[in-house]
Amino acid sequence: MDKIRIVGGNALAGRVEISGAKNAALPAMAASLLTADTIHLENIPYVRDILTTRNLLREMGSEAEVRKDGTATLRAAELHSFEAPYELVKTMRASILVLGPLVGRFKKARVSLPGGCAIGARPVNLHLMGLERMGAKCEVVHGYIEASTEGLHGAYILMETVTVTGTENLMMAATLAEGETILDNAACEPEVSDLADLLRGMGAQIEGDGTRTIRISGVRKLRGCRHRIIPDRIEAGTFAIAAAITRGDIEIANCRPHQLTAVLTQLSQTGAEVDIGPASFRVKGRDPVLSRNVTTYPYPAFPTDMQAQYMALMTQGDGIAVITETIFENRFMHALEMIRMGADIAVEGRQAVVKGGRSLTGARVLASDLRASASLILAGLVASGETWIDRVYHLDRGYFHIEEKLAALGANIERVP
Ligand code: EPZ
Repeated sequence: MDKIRIVGGNALAGRVEISGAKNAALPAMAASLLTADTIHLENIPYVRDILTTRNLLREMGSEAEVRKDGTATLRAAELHSFEAPYELVKTMRASILVLGPLVGRFKKARVSLPGGCAIGARPVNLHLMGLERMGAKCEVVHGYIEASTEGLHGAYILMETVTVTGTENLMMAATLAEGETILDNAACEPEVSDLADLLRGMGAQIEGDGTRTIRISGVRKLRGCRHRIIPDRIEAGTFAIAAAITRGDIEIANCRPHQLTAVLTQLSQTGAEVDIGPASFRVKGRDPVLSRNVTTYPYPAFPTDMQAQYMALMTQGDGIAVITETIFENRFMHALEMIRMGADIAVEGRQAVVKGGRSLTGARVLASDLRASASLILAGLVASGETWIDRVYHLDRGYFHIEEKLAALGANIERVP
């Protein structure tokens, strides 16, 4: 198993190009199941979850090519399987995204019920509730979701909790349903809007994406198209914090700063200098780092996927910062690892109280989930001495060669097989 070795203390400087967004690419690949034509995607990050999804589509009978240059060609002309098996789903919960397209186009699906993961129980009840309101029958049998329908029809669906993949699944299913579907209290994440753009390119009739109410008028068939995936706002935010925590100066290019307003505003309040351009922004870290509270909420507020990275920065703060996690019930594992590096963090349920002013020392630490891995790298960049991060396969699920990008900015970091 690979490990990442970091010797902290270098201020990072230079320019980094952001890759395509994993969480936009995954639903886009699932959307290819909605048509017999070919879908061409660009700016796909060559990360593990993308290859897992490619394998899943192939196992169903799709032609699926994903290339290192970021292009992918997908064609689900006819499938011989409508199942997402346990062996695959257990490695990637986002496999649930094939449920909506399969029921929408093929009127049936058998998808392993995703288990929980490190950060929470991760139920999918709202995905199933929505499909049932559209006329599908969904049962959980032997750990599998068995869904079938005579044909989906439009429905009014109010989701009691904002769910990103729930919104995506139901939006995809509704594109081929008979009549109009309204998704209320829908997720507004940019990845939802990017999916809606792809679906419109395929001939779907969707409006309101990016707001809490999305209207979809079903059509009979969808066609192939070409689509470019949006940049990864979380990768961009991760590098922004790398600049702040190392007191460095990084230009983050090929991104959409307006999709990071909550993160960049929060960073400015901690004392970092943030200059925003149309497709890039620049962050200069400064002393002192000011301790500022933050609470995670659905987009456009501060994203849960940036919470761990922000906690690493707050260990360097000049006072006390309270971090409140409202999305997932167990997303503070990274705190326990940072404490081993000398951080002063008290976790109480959904809140973590981070007392700054302590310099971190390098240690052997364990990654627990994708974003926690990134936060431990950030802590290692500023810790004195050597940090070893184990189980970096979590990192490889969503970041494309992050250690190479950081090394190019002056970090003393390497991957050790
Ligand atoms: C998506 O997960 C992202 N994954 C996550 O990123 C991200 O952290 C999360 O949204 C929140 O922004 C992908 O897009 C592939 P949710 P998702 O459904 O859709 C509850 C990463 O690091 N809920 O928005 O699974 C749920 O328990 C990953 O890339 C229900 O109760 O998250 C949670 O508390 C980690 N019932 C809240 O909603 C449901 O049916 C938000 O979950 C669905 C969700």
